[in-house]
Amino acid sequence: MALSVVDSTLAPALAEAAERAEEALDRLLPQGDEAQSRLYEAMRYASLGGGKRLRAFLVMQAASLFHVSPRAADRVAASVEMLHAYSLVHDDLPAMDDDDLRRGRPSCHKAFDEATAILAGDALQARAFEILAEPDTHPDPAVRCELICTLGQAAGARGMAGGQMIDLIAEATALTEAEVTRLQLLKTARLITWCCEAGAILGKAPSSLRHALAGYGRDLGLAFQIADDILDETGTSEELGKTPKKDAAAGKATLVALLGLERARSQARMLADQAVGHLDPFGPPAEKLRDLVAFVVTRRM
Ligand code: IPE
Ligand code: IPE
Ligand code: MG
Ligand code: MG
Ligand code: MG
Repeated sequence: MALSVVDSTLAPALAEAAERAEEALDRLLPQGDEAQSRLYEAMRYASLGGGKRLRAFLVMQAASLFHVSPRAADRVAASVEMLHAYSLVHDDLPAMDDDDLRRGRPSCHKAFDEATAILAGDALQARAFEILAEPDTHPDPAVRCELICTLGQAAGARGMAGGQMIDLIAEATALTEAEVTRLQLLKTARLITWCCEAGAILGKAPSSLRHALAGYGRDLGLAFQIADDILDETGTSEELGKTPKKDAAAGKATLVALLGLERARSQARMLADQAVGHLDPFGPPAEKLRDLVAFVVTRRM
């Protein structure tokens, strides 16, 4: 992973989170030689051995603010990385963005086939919720229910899936700047917000601190999607591990398309500053979350 733009203390923290996420995913994903083992292989292909693991990092960092056990945080991190992997598998399908390259390798439907990729996405999503429901995630069932309910909200019709619906509809209709922001809030920022809130839920944090983390996640998530759209326009397939310049060709509603690169960049920087502002109540223990904001808006990956 090219971490050259990352602050020197952030790079090892990101690498450590990625290692912990990988280990938890490997442990929690199904494997075996049953009749449906092709499905297991596709699930493992789509979620292991790649990705920045940004969502896992957010869960782990937010959880550590409230002294949550790393074992619990790692399970929640693996859960959200499975849900995210499902969203990428489906996002790449011919019926959606029709992308053949993901994380520097053939997309799941290219490595397997479309039907298998659809099922792998379905099963990754189901497993994500199952992990949250398992007693090892937290001894208090109310905490587990809160994680499950809020992840459902973040990923469902008023969250990521809803945002993906608007994203597809918007290929054929022009959106205003406010509408694009709403689309990006749903498709990307809701799940990123959930990662931050999950740490507070696990730690039974006071609502003011949970709220502050949600504000951070929202602004970080919006900046993150603008950066993704800028990279689609300016990055190479080597840097990104996915095919660049696809958004303009598909007529995607992005701030880059609407405002141009420079104004999109300044909007991302404004959101980044706002994100950092939300971390004031946490002081020095939130340093890595602050550093992450700079990484998100300057990354080339
Ligand atoms: C890509 O997410 C999908 C978006 C929401 C833009 P990431 O850029 O976090 O993908 P990975 O996990 O690092 O591959
Ligand atoms: C995808 O946004 C957001 C998801 C919820 C998966 P993009 O379609 O821009 O993500 P990439 O660029 O394919 O990773
Ligand atoms: Mg898409
Ligand atoms: Mg896509
Ligand atoms: Mg993109």
